[in-house]
Formats: sequence, structure tokens, C-alpha cells
Amino acid sequence: MAEPLIVTIDGPAGVGKSTMAKRLAGELAIPYLDTGAMFRAIAWKLGQGAWEWDDPSLEAALEEFEFALSGTGPETVLSLNGTPLGNEIRTEDVGMWASNVATRPVVRSFLKRAQQNLGSRFSLVAEGRDMGTVIFPQAPCKFFLDASVDVRAERRLLQLQLMGRPADLDELKAQIARRDHQDRNRAVAPLRPAQDAVLVDTSDLDREQVFSALLEGVKQG
Ligand code: DC
Repeated sequence: MAEPLIVTIDGPAGVGKSTMAKRLAGELAIPYLDTGAMFRAIAWKLGQGAWEWDDPSLEAALEEFEFALSGTGPETVLSLNGTPLGNEIRTEDVGMWASNVATRPVVRSFLKRAQQNLGSRFSLVAEGRDMGTVIFPQAPCKFFLDASVDVRAERRLLQLQLMGRPADLDELKAQIARRDHQDRNRAVAPLRPAQDAVLVDTSDLDREQVFSALLEGVKQG
């Protein structure tokens, strides 16, 4: 069997990684791996404050978790212990909790094993914060998406409005900036582009333009 193909997409919160990963995976007819959803699911299952537990307690809790992947492209389903993950993990609060648990090395090494295990079995478009730097450093095709906090907050506001969940723009900006700061400055696997990543600043690009840039990159990679 041919080696699985891994395409990585890293970048800060709200930059559009999931949308692009889904679509690119659809084009390539392979699954996408939303690693933020894995951190969110752990944070959500363990509950508020779990990031302050001691290492043995966290490790014992993590042993109970098993992630699985099925389907391809936009139909990819990520499950935890047999249950597909849904919108319950998609709140700003759970995003911040996820960023908090993501500072803990025991959580990161547990998920590193899980993510690399999936990558050894499936071709993937893997998106997150450390896909190109730590989890799949050997991937032949890496992207780093970026956009200003203002642009990302405005896009997020629009998304929430479409879901019928009104939000406050200034509050969203503050939440995104707080999460950026923590994700970029943590000691283990901080958010940064891999040396060999293609950088795409999406601030002034629409979705089609971003997608074309990624597709072009994959064809060349
Ligand atoms: O991509 P997201 O916003 O759903 O991710 C939620 C949090 O999970 C993010 O703020 C930091 C953490 N995370 C991480 O540390 N490493 C990853 N590969 C993916 C997410």
C-alpha cells in the first residue's frame, strides 16, 4: 500500500482552517483531521478546571479516551469513544478551555500519539496549531494560514449570526486575542509556521482565493 499523503494546515483561531481542510480533503477524496476538535472534546469531557489537575489524574482520565475517524472530505466524522463530536464543543468557552488543556504536556503527548496513529493509517488533511512543526514534520505539503484579529473576529461574528447566535464583536476580538497569546506563547508546541510551510495571509482574500492558493500548493508539492 502507498504511504499515506499528509497535508498540514496550521494557523490561529478563526482563520478558516477547518473550512479549507474539509474542502481540500473533499477534492483529494481523503479524510480531514480537526485536531482542535480533539483538544475541545477532551476539555469539554473533563470539564472546567481540568487543566489544573496533576499529571497522574490527567493521564488516568485520558486513558479512557479513544478517537476514531471515518468518511472523507466534508463527510468526515471524528468520534470520541464511539460518539461523533458535534456542536457541543463549538463554543468560545470550550475553545478557551481547549487552549488551557493544550498547555499541558501530558495532554499534548496523548494527542500526539493519537494523531500520528491516525496519520499512519489514513491519508489526511490535518489542521491545527502544530501539525507541520511537531506532529507531521515529514509532511510533503504544509500551509500556514494567518489573518488579523479584526478580520477573524468579524468572520466569526458572521458565522455565529448565521447560526442564530448573536455575539459582541469587541468581546470576540478580546477572546481571539487571548487565545492567540496563549497558543503562540506556550512552552510546548507553540503556534508557529514550519520552516517549509507556505504562508497564506487570508486577510484580503475570499474563500475561493484561499482555496485556489491551497490547491495550487498541493499540486506543486
Ligand atoms: O482550532 P480550534 O480553535 O478548534 O482549537 C482549540 C484550541 O485547541 C486552540 O486554541 C489551541 C488548541 N490546539 C492546539 O493546541 N493544537 C492543535 N493542534 C489544535 C488545537
